[in-house]
Amino acid sequence: MRKKILITGASTGLGRGMALEFAAAGRDLALCARRLELLEALKADIATRFPAVRVAVRALDVNDHEQVFEVFRGLDAELGGLDRVIVNAGIGKGVPVGSGQFRPNRATAETNFVAALVQCEAALELFRARQSGHLVTIASVAAIRGLPRSQTVYAATKAGLAALTEGIRADLWHTPIRVSAIYPGYIESDISAGARKRPFLVDTATGCRALVRAIESERPRSFVPPWPWTAIAFVMRRLPLGLLVRFL
Ligand SMILES: NC(=O)c1ccc[n+]([C@@H]2O[C@H](COP(=O)([O-])OP(=O)(O)OC[C@H]3O[C@@H](n4cnc5c(N)ncnc54)[C@H](OP(=O)(O)O)[C@@H]3O)[C@@H](O)[C@H]2O)c1
Repeated sequence: MRKKILITGASTGLGRGMALEFAAAGRDLALCARRLELLEALKADIATRFPAVRVAVRALDVNDHEQVFEVFRGLDAELGGLDRVIVNAGIGKGVPVGSGQFRPNRATAETNFVAALVQCEAALELFRARQSGHLVTIASVAAIRGLPRSQTVYAATKAGLAALTEGIRADLWHTPIRVSAIYPGYIESDISAGARKRPFLVDTATGCRALVRAIESERPRSFVPPWPWTAIAFVMRRLPLGLLVRFL
């Protein structure tokens, strides 16, 4: 059982929801995000509901790469050895490529891919040293295909993250370190607030229960919730692009 779990992007949405699920299962938590006040409120909430659970929080901007290493090392020392790291922090800004607004696309690329790489580096530095641990990356069903409009760069970052995760798994094949990529479908959170109605959207608690179940299975790849997203991913992979864009 993984007892000490670090989650980035834990101030809201999926990160917060997973933290509550793991706390209910009695796991100790290391929680990071930029909005420290939200992490402190979550810590207080967990202390009331699950008093036996230890929670350490840190303000962290994952785009500050040196800080990622420092914060992961500090939390590892504070909890006495992390045994799972969930690379979850992400944004969904993005505009069509070439529409004259490079900045949101660059921010999406940097946060969702470069900063995710840094988090993997910092986690594996700890795991390689002790030859144990479980690295989890939160990709997306959007990783399956190139997508149009505001999703183009987001989907590319998630495809890159999924490939990165598989590469790390290949590299660690003969070690006890486990590596999993999670591909969520639509789960209610701030990332999609205000977006047009999304099919098969589940509420945050339902989605996070399914996420935690998938993470605990330690399978290499999981679509979450499994139904209908495993089937949708199967079809998405095979649809001709002209047909795919009609559904998006
Ligand atoms: N919800 C979905 O349907 C869905 C589907 C597929 C994949 N995902 C993925 O799930 C992950 C979580 O997203 P969410 O849906 O929970 O969205 P969210 O509610 O907007 O949460 C995003 C989290 O990431 C953190 N974050 C963003 N930029 C950061 C930065 N530079 N440094 C540190 N933390 C940062 C935010 O915290 P601060 O702002 O406090 O820093 C927040 O806690 C993302 O990687 C997203 O791509 C979500």
